[in-house]
Amino acid sequence: MKQTILFFLVLLLVNQTAFAQQKIWDETPDQKEQRLKWWTDARFGMFIHWGLYAQAARHEWVKKRERISDEDYQKYFELFNPDLFDPADWAKKAKAAGMKYAVITTKHHEGFNMFDSQYTDYTIMNTPYGKDIIKEWVDAFRAEGLGIGFYYSLIDWHHPEYTIDRVHPQSAKTQAEYDELNKDRDMSIYREYLKNQVREILTNYGKVDILWLDYSFPGEFGKDHTDWGAIDLIKMVRQLQPEIIVNDRLDLKDYWGGWDFTTPEQFKVNKWPKENGVRIPWETCQTFSGSWGYYRDEHTWKDNKQLLVLLIESVSKGGNLLLNVGPTARGAFDYRADKALARMGEWMKYNDRAIYNCTQAPDDFQKPDNTLLTYNPETKRLYIHLLDYPLQNFLLQGYGDKVEYAQFLHDASEIKIGKPYGHWIKQETGENDINLLLPVNKPNVEIPVIELFLK
Ligand code: GLC
Repeated sequence: MKQTILFFLVLLLVNQTAFAQQKIWDETPDQKEQRLKWWTDARFGMFIHWGLYAQAARHEWVKKRERISDEDYQKYFELFNPDLFDPADWAKKAKAAGMKYAVITTKHHEGFNMFDSQYTDYTIMNTPYGKDIIKEWVDAFRAEGLGIGFYYSLIDWHHPEYTIDRVHPQSAKTQAEYDELNKDRDMSIYREYLKNQVREILTNYGKVDILWLDYSFPGEFGKDHTDWGAIDLIKMVRQLQPEIIVNDRLDLKDYWGGWDFTTPEQFKVNKWPKENGVRIPWETCQTFSGSWGYYRDEHTWKDNKQLLVLLIESVSKGGNLLLNVGPTARGAFDYRADKALARMGEWMKYNDRAIYNCTQAPDDFQKPDNTLLTYNPETKRLYIHLLDYPLQNFLLQGYGDKVEYAQFLHDASEIKIGKPYGHWIKQETGENDINLLLPVNKPNVEIPVIELFLK
């Protein structure tokens, strides 16, 4: 009896959540899956954080961290002149690394526009550089066949009507202080500005594949979807670019159409994220080191293997990786980023089949120790990524009736499938297990991949 009541209570709750999901966008779950397909197939993208803060070279939050005033920040605006900026070179590097799309900061929290805008003078056009960086960037990345995305900061530390909040460089402590600071500021004027600017970036550069809005922080002295006029904003976005893919930082999680994918930041998820019990599209955004913007003296760079594991593990849980580069104020990639991208590219050149169009493996494939599994549902191939190269006998438990052929992915060399042979292994082996006979020497690949052709 108790169980039945519980069951109906749960049912009621589920129903209510379904009801609470208000519709902003008329699209079925299937249609959404189709719209996102190129992106979920792509799996690997480049994030680019670039703005005036590159000159400070000590984090894109430098204005807030050091509580720099507009006057003192002005020098970066007056000096910005990236003479080495060569977007074609950036695009080539992204492509060579195996990335399929890229997302660039059109405006970060500092409020500076990397694009030409009719709604403010605080743009790239009025710096010594004087050309629309976003236009040049879009042309170059499109030419390489990469998907293009715009990051746009909802937060703005320069706009005079944007109300001071807890993440602002002039943040305060008490309500009275905030009241005083904000007495001449009118958030509704900023709201209009935000909408106008988003319209500009979605109108002036042709088809935009991704919109990456950043971010909401509800609660005390924070901002939520009402501050941004988010519902109105997203409706305009969908109308201007019906195929665009939008992240989930507008604080519209309860609205169908209010977001397309979730964005675990600098965080490796344990398992495929869900919403109301349903697996949702996701992309983790990550830095090579601790900062998004160029940071000269930051030295905690991840190594090649860590970066590859990050990519593979994301795919193995059904997600994407958006890996960040913070170019210098001269417009070049940091030498450490160049090196990291090149090395990932080396691996991708021979192993990208285990990344593109791949996802989490079906549950009936048991993951051997020290491996990650990815799976291509269309070709029915399973990929075993060997994070720690094993000794010859590589036992696959429960795979016996499922595997037709096995090879290394990087060189298409056959891996013999043996029946468990010999006294010791027999003791540990079940009816439906198979044993792959691996060479003793680890192939010359950072993370070797076994490709299994399934029956
Ligand atoms: C954050 C930070 C920011 C960065 C972003 C990337 O929320 O404010 O500096 O652009 O995450 O995900």
